[in-house]
Parts: sequence; C-alpha cells; structure tokens
Amino acid sequence: MEKNPLNIGIVGLGTVGIGVVDFLTTNKDLITLRAGREIRISGICAKRKNKKRELNLSRFRWISDPLTLSNEQGIDVVVELIGGQNDPAKSIIEKSLLNKKHVVTANKALIAHHGHYLAILAEEQKVSLNFEAAVAGGIPIVKILKESLSGNDISRVYGVINGTCNYILTQMENHEQDYSKIFRDAQNLGFVEKDPSLDVGGIDSAHKISIIAALAFGSRINFDNVKIKGIESISLIDITSASAMGYRIKLLGLANKSTAGISQVVEPCLVPKESLFGKLDGGTNMVMVEGNFVEKTHYIGLGAGAGPTASSIVSDLIDIARGNISSSFGQRASELEISQHVSEDLSSSFYLRFLLTDKPGTLAKLAGILGKYGISINHMRQLRHQGENAPVLIVTHPTAKISLTSAIKEISKIEICKSDPVYIRIEDL
Ligand code: HSE
Repeated sequence: MEKNPLNIGIVGLGTVGIGVVDFLTTNKDLITLRAGREIRISGICAKRKNKKRELNLSRFRWISDPLTLSNEQGIDVVVELIGGQNDPAKSIIEKSLLNKKHVVTANKALIAHHGHYLAILAEEQKVSLNFEAAVAGGIPIVKILKESLSGNDISRVYGVINGTCNYILTQMENHEQDYSKIFRDAQNLGFVEKDPSLDVGGIDSAHKISIIAALAFGSRINFDNVKIKGIESISLIDITSASAMGYRIKLLGLANKSTAGISQVVEPCLVPKESLFGKLDGGTNMVMVEGNFVEKTHYIGLGAGAGPTASSIVSDLIDIARGNISSSFGQRASELEISQHVSEDLSSSFYLRFLLTDKPGTLAKLAGILGKYGISINHMRQLRHQGENAPVLIVTHPTAKISLTSAIKEISKIEICKSDPVYIRIEDL
C-alpha cells in the first residue's frame, strides 16, 4: 500500500464542508483501503473561525487565508466549498491549479461560467479539476458520463436537477396551496438558496444542464446558450388542472444534440403522472441519459444535502489518491469546441389555459385561430365560470412552438381573452 497520505485542504466549512470532514472521519478506514492511502485533512479554512459548527474542528490545522492554503507546500488537493461563480472561489482555484495542486469543487456556477478555462489550466499543469458534486448532489452523473457511458454517442439528456423546485411543485400539489405560500415555507426550512432566483428562476438547473451537456456531447461548456424559464409563474390552477388531465409539472433541464447543433433548455413541463419523472417527489433529482448503444438510462438520488454532496466530493478525492488524473470534461479540454447552438423547436404537445368571456361564439373564435396556425386540439375542458369568465384548458396535438406562440400572441389580443394565456410544453418522457 502506498505510504504517503493525500493531504487535502478544505476551504469553506458550511453544511457541505462539515459533511466532508464528517465523511472522511467516519469512513476513514474504508476510504484508506479503497484509495490505497490515507486521505488526510491537513488544513481547513473558512471566513469565520469561531462560528458554531456541528463538529469540533479543533484537531485540524486552521489556515486563515485561503490563498495561503493554495500555496502551501504540504497540500496536494484544495477542496473548494465556498461557492459563487467569481472570487474568492475563482482565484483560489486558479491559484491552486497554477501551484500544481489538484482541485475538487462542488461549485456549479463557477464550473458553468469558467469551467473551460479552468479545465485548460488543470490540463496544462497536469493536475485534476474534479466536480462530481456540482451536479445532482449524490448522483454520480459526471462519472457516468465521463466513464461508464463514455463510448456511447449521446444524443439526449434531461433531468430534474433542482431539488428545491421539485419540492415546491410537489408541495403545491399535495397541499393545494399557491406558489408564494409554499415558497415561503421552503425558505423558512432553509431549502432555498440565498439568492432564490438561482433555484426558482431556473439558473441553478441551467448551470447543471450546461455541465451535463458538455460532458455528454463532448462540447465546450456553453452556459450562455441555455434558454431559461423558472417556476415563479406556475399557478396552483395549472398544477391541479394538469393533475386532473394525468400530468405533473416538473422543472426540467433538457439538452439535445442533432446534426444541426446543440440545444439547452430549462423550463417547466408537463410530464405524464405515471412516468418515472412524474413520480419523482420532493427534493429528489433524476437524470436520463440516452446513448446510441445503451439506449435510455435513468439515475435517481438526493440532489443536495451534506451526506450526498460529501459522497461525491470524497469519490473525487479517492480518484486523485489512486492516481487517476482524468480530463475534467472527459476529453482533452484544449480540443473541446463550442457547438452550434440551435433553438429547441421539436414538435411537442402543449397545455394551454385561457380565461375567456362567457359569450356565444367564444370557443369558435379560439379554435379558429388555433386552426389557422395548424394547431389541432387533442382534448379540452371548460371549468366553472369565475363571474363573467371561464377558464378553458386545452391539450394540443404535437405542434411547433413557433406556431403555438404565434397563435397565443394573436389570441391574447382579442377581447374574448381576459388574462394572459398560459402555455406549458408537454414532455412524453
Ligand atoms: N439549490 C440546489 C437544489 C442545491 O435545490 O437542488 C443543490 O445544488
């Protein structure tokens, strides 16, 4: 067995940082056996030394400046758990790589924005930049894409990759309560990021789908081309109506590769209740990867929390301890190219909701405009009147989004339409 321990320095001692310390301490013997040598915490660092934490950290060497840790002779790996797409996380990682230290990070925003540059830096310095924990917490999706499915031509990946949004949507349906009430509850439970738009605005999912797409398609990471729509405008009426028609609303991250290029989208979609994604409750994540030989594969697990995230970080550390220095994105970073971006306009069915006046001929007018754009109605329901008006729900046959949005634009301008129409794509997963 290799004698030298792998000396690591941990920067950031929040929930995840403490989780890593706990994991490495609790499973120390098992990890040493599997890694072939001890993984030793040789330095820890955070903004506040005296903050009350769940573990007693007094036995570890405290380093007050993270940049000192990036310079320390005795440190082989810097574990960055501060978060945030820019400094200090970025300069700590940059400096560590330049000092030929391996880096393990859970920082999805930073990888989404600067992953290509940092991967090149790691490659030049012949060290690892590993980020298993950046996507879907405890689900080892990075390794699956880089290793297990690496020989497949992958054409499609999608997933529920933000646990907070899935929790909010599930709670809205289960408790028949509106978005703002459930959002506040989730915030009080500490489930929502400090900047809520990261979760409910779909940005966190976009960070993750851009990382997944780069790994799956062998292309250069391209966060700026993700089309993002969050869940803030999802109403209870849409959740209950979707449910009555056999669907659930999920915030999906979707990436497709075709000969034309790559599309990356984050948006709420209706999925069949009986599908694997339809059954996904609470904070759980699930990712589907489709390869040309393996076909569809699904991965499910906890997407956040100390234990699952630490599990991914420790697996990255074990890789380094074993001497597996792999490319960050599964192939040489310097050879990764930006793919042509294409907008997602695959034909799909849509769920539509209108609030219409209760007058003779109203439905005929609506159907006429849909027909003009070649949109065929699969089924429809009219709910009880709300005063003078009535909500009308429609599920269309597959149609191009451009036809749908053109029809919606026209309908929203006529006097029968009493509020902004709602349209949500249906994904028959
Ligand atoms: N806010 C994220 C989520 C945490 O809810 O999934 C894990 O990235």
